[in-house]
Amino acid sequence: MDKNKRIILDVDTGIDDALAILFALKSKGVKVEGITTVAGNVSVEQATFNTLQVIELADAGYDIPVAKGADKPLFRDWQGPVAHIHGENGIGNVTLPIPLKIPLDEGAGDFIVRKANELEKELTIVCVGRLTNLAIALAKDAELPSKLKEVVLMGGAVRVPGNVSPVSEANIWGDPEAAHVVFESGLPITMVGLDVTMKTVFKQAHLNLLTANMNETNKEMIKFIDHILQFRFNAYQKSTKLNGSPLHDPLAVAVALDPDLVEIEPMLVKVETKGKLSSGATVADLRGVQLDRTNASVCVRVQANRFIERFISVLTGEEGR
Ligand code: RIB
Ligand code: CA
Repeated sequence: MDKNKRIILDVDTGIDDALAILFALKSKGVKVEGITTVAGNVSVEQATFNTLQVIELADAGYDIPVAKGADKPLFRDWQGPVAHIHGENGIGNVTLPIPLKIPLDEGAGDFIVRKANELEKELTIVCVGRLTNLAIALAKDAELPSKLKEVVLMGGAVRVPGNVSPVSEANIWGDPEAAHVVFESGLPITMVGLDVTMKTVFKQAHLNLLTANMNETNKEMIKFIDHILQFRFNAYQKSTKLNGSPLHDPLAVAVALDPDLVEIEPMLVKVETKGKLSSGATVADLRGVQLDRTNASVCVRVQANRFIERFISVLTGEEGR
């Protein structure tokens, strides 16, 4: 585990985003420099509110600024919320206390550019929603690719089906033009797509391990996790017959902190922005022909059990003990 990671999380909070935020804030050896929000699972207003609530629940012991970002995709209308998967409020209809903090005056794109300049080459951006904010940041600063250490994004599907359409994953499908900009930008991208996240199914037995380790310090957070995951288990059972919930967004955070959890293949990934049936597909050239470039390190295998163990140990405060 890299002990000196500095990350910005870009989220559309969302059940799995909430889990990713808690996992990042409770992980040792990482400083979350800020969290930027985007419309996706819920409106950007709701995502920002949820994010502030989840940060306060985590009680990380340091200040985490929140910058509100895009309220819609670059060139399309926002299609949401996704209430059947995330609940009416995005966090499984759980009511958390009204947050004491408010977002920055600065927008997400400006925040990303400023932090990239301040932390030149040290900053990793972990995007677990639509890529709209990162595309906007690239439009504001064309030098961004050389200033960031890495972009780890949860999105796409290469050798497996999509989840919003037969071929498209939600985060790419939700703003394919932004995803196209990001994949063509020259940013150092690690793609954590459905090829690996669908292997990280968190089940009731895992949740039992979390709740069994509830104590005075972590009680409110573990109760929240229990509620949102119960909501998610029911939602997935109804819509996909899946027994459990893939940890899409937490896996992206985990890969940013510990790349050894996955195996990667360098690929040339192009984003379909037009297709009637395939809009939002991430098309990788798998023919085995000589390519003149690649643009992403695509995660193709994951040590799912090791990741889930880490997820549980971080959230129960047992990490490294
Ligand atoms: O496809 C899964 C992704 O879509 C997750 O990031 C989820 O939160 C939604 O944004
Ligand atoms: Ca998300």
